[in-house]
Amino acid sequence: MCGIVGYIGKEKNALNILINGLKALEYRGYDSAGIAYFNKNKIITIKEKGKIEKLEKIIDYSIESNIGIAHTRWATCGDATKINAHPHSCGKITIVHNGIIENYDELKEQLQKDNYKLISETDSEIIAVLLNKYYEEYNDIIKAIIKTKQIIKGSYAIAILCADINDKIYAIRKDSPLIVAKNENASFIASDVPAILNYTNKYTILEENEIAILSNKDISFFNNELQPIKKKMLTFKGNSIDAQKGHFKHFMLKEIFEEKDIIEKIIKKYNTIEKLEKKLGFLTKYDNITIIGCGSAYHVGLIAKYLLEEYANIPVNIEIASEFRYKNNFLNKKSLAIFISQSGETADTLASLREVKKDKIDTLGIVNVQESSIAREADKVIYTEAGPEIAVATTKAFIAQLVIMNLITIYMGNKKGKIKIEDLNEILTNFDNLKKQIENILNNSYKEIAKKIYQAQNIFFLGRNIDYGIAMEGSLKLKEISYIHSEAYPAGELKHGTISLIEKNMPVISIVTKEHIFDKTISNIKETKARGSFNIVISNKTVNDCDINILVPNINPILQPILVTIILQLISYETANLKGCDIDKPRNLAKSVTVE
Ligand code: F6R
Repeated sequence: MCGIVGYIGKEKNALNILINGLKALEYRGYDSAGIAYFNKNKIITIKEKGKIEKLEKIIDYSIESNIGIAHTRWATCGDATKINAHPHSCGKITIVHNGIIENYDELKEQLQKDNYKLISETDSEIIAVLLNKYYEEYNDIIKAIIKTKQIIKGSYAIAILCADINDKIYAIRKDSPLIVAKNENASFIASDVPAILNYTNKYTILEENEIAILSNKDISFFNNELQPIKKKMLTFKGNSIDAQKGHFKHFMLKEIFEEKDIIEKIIKKYNTIEKLEKKLGFLTKYDNITIIGCGSAYHVGLIAKYLLEEYANIPVNIEIASEFRYKNNFLNKKSLAIFISQSGETADTLASLREVKKDKIDTLGIVNVQESSIAREADKVIYTEAGPEIAVATTKAFIAQLVIMNLITIYMGNKKGKIKIEDLNEILTNFDNLKKQIENILNNSYKEIAKKIYQAQNIFFLGRNIDYGIAMEGSLKLKEISYIHSEAYPAGELKHGTISLIEKNMPVISIVTKEHIFDKTISNIKETKARGSFNIVISNKTVNDCDINILVPNINPILQPILVTIILQLISYETANLKGCDIDKPRNLAKSVTVE
């Protein structure tokens, strides 16, 4: 949610480095972008509405500068306009900001009373105004930063330039991510590691309330009391190639094609009972689980609830993080709270984790991004290791989360005596079969299905039990990238009101994989057919009463959701592609939702 980059170095190619950094962070927001750099001791700001490529067109790369900050925006406060784009300046101060200033209205009123003129509609401009006010008062930038930090409430990662100091960048953060990185010639700040990977893989995480001062030689860190602190540099294990599209038309398609290798990598890490015991042994002490997440991560929780309750006989409660954080929870000493998050920075999931920790409940993070906030703050973490996910709509990280939940299910199921050791070993060692089935799915074309649905205004997804969880994810994927309105419903629930929406030729995509309720779902499908719907049924058995039957290979039911999800991801992709949508950067969205 908004991407920040900052560079100060010996080389004078700041503009190039900043724009490249922004491109690597464009998944975080893309409704406007801007940069500010020093040129002949003056701060020059350039910004533009729209994607970074529009900004790039007006940049003159021959301009030399060795210091600058940059921003790509996901609008929160104020429309997506050029004026509201960052950087924002006031007097000698120029800043970029990711987050939300919650006491904006009250600060704005006060500043306006004091005759300060605000140019934009953003909360971020207030930060520049306050910093400048206190810089004028104290003639000391650090004092101005500390004072401003005391006044602003909310979440922020902020990079600051001061017109009087052309050899330093200042950075602070609270509840929004910011990394600080170094090589022998330069220092960098960024919202996320991909922005700096072309230059260095050595970085550290700026912790809450720390201040970083970057120069081209070194970086110094201070705590709130201005005492210097030493920080350990980390080494990022991935590489920048992982974040490139290769021969694929879109990152989303590339990431779907990476899924089988990711599944193999994860299963290999856990492929014996001893390895499972070592990594998951702690789970046996809990007698109830609550899973918390947002969006697709919540859907993984929903699928996992059905799996764990059926195969491991353990009660599972699932919660949408933005709801969970503001209500009573009834967790106890035998509860495990699992937080699922690709980014590890989702504001609501992180806040829910902090709430649970206050009650001293044990927490487990299932996280993709190394060293992210949820990964660091949860008592235990399992990394999904899906690699950088660039497409805004999650695919490979979802599958990786699902596989981790599959492994947790079989391990706990075995411990509870519900899954025999032979069945557990079969799942862990017979990966070749699963891989072959995934390859078959990837080799199929879903373009013909897409042609049948891409002009629809509304689509229903139906399923019962675990198929309902998968339907929820299929529906979200379709609507977020193709902009077709869709709803996922438990198949048996439709007749309690919603069936009134079924019209002639409305597509209904149903998932039917569970043997014991097969006939029940088929009856619900027939109820929609009787009202004129166009029925696509994804099933592991032949279904006659439908318009299109997509057969999904019959595999161990614990793994079945993986195959169905991949089919749904491909259908969404092809539908959005046919509509000419901007698949990797759907409108109004951003990856890593660091505001509530
Ligand atoms: C949908 C999607 C979102 C995320 C959600 C949580 O394709 O990507 O619904 O799943 O914003 O994000 P993380 O997993 O980063 O917490």
